[in-house]
Amino acid sequence: MNTGKLDPARIPAHIAMVMDGNGRWAKEKGMPRVAGHNAGMQSLKEIVKRCSVLGVKHLTVYAFSTENWKRPQEEVGGIFKLLVLYINSELKELCENNVKVSVLGEIDRLPDEAVQKLQEALEATKDNDGMEFHIALNYGGRREILLSVQKLAKLAAEGKIDPESITEADLEAGLFTAGFPDPDLLIRTGGEKRLSNFLLWQGAYSELVFTDTWWPDFTPDCLEDAIIEYQSRDRRYGGLTAEKRGTK
Ligand code: FPP
Repeated sequence: MNTGKLDPARIPAHIAMVMDGNGRWAKEKGMPRVAGHNAGMQSLKEIVKRCSVLGVKHLTVYAFSTENWKRPQEEVGGIFKLLVLYINSELKELCENNVKVSVLGEIDRLPDEAVQKLQEALEATKDNDGMEFHIALNYGGRREILLSVQKLAKLAAEGKIDPESITEADLEAGLFTAGFPDPDLLIRTGGEKRLSNFLLWQGAYSELVFTDTWWPDFTPDCLEDAIIEYQSRDRRYGGLTAEKRGTK
């Protein structure tokens, strides 16, 4: 149950989620890990819908990291099968809700079927101008920064840019997230309190909300609780508190 009251006028423009705890959810029930991811996919469906209804402009979810390849092949294959199932079952509704799908990460390494489905989703939703739903797949924050730096280094080596004049905006332009705002709120379910290589550059000033709830149990009400928590924070960006600024 929500304890406070959600202010509809201060919904975060960008929410990012680390959907952790699927495996432990399944283990507790004596089920295989993939069953946990399946339950996680059902959670994701509801969270995407609620974010869109609340007026969130960008939702980014960490579906598969560059480190997740270390998991058993059966589990890795299972996650990509779920991605295909997710798009099959949700694409029509995503379009009806004016949601635009995008992908963060190097998807060429994904199974062909998953790449094809993603391309179908990107194409079908490309003209939508409602919520942007970014799915991080084969994504790693360090790798993303490295790729951007490599592009800049190449331009510098070719004499096309002066290394001294490289700005934060130049580096940001080479990230997968180029053109959209940094996350205001980053939520991690499943009890761990770490970023696990997710949005390392973009999360510099994100408000972090950690919850012990396993992702498959994370309901739209839990999401609203996290937004209420976010709304209670005083975002200072290295400046003064609202009290010291005299605005409170
Ligand atoms: C982390 O939980 C979860 C993942 C690595 C996969 C997330 C996938 C989904 C939510 C479903 C698939 C949906 C799409 C769109 C691909 P964990 O397995 O690390 O949980 P644990 O820490 O309890 O083991």
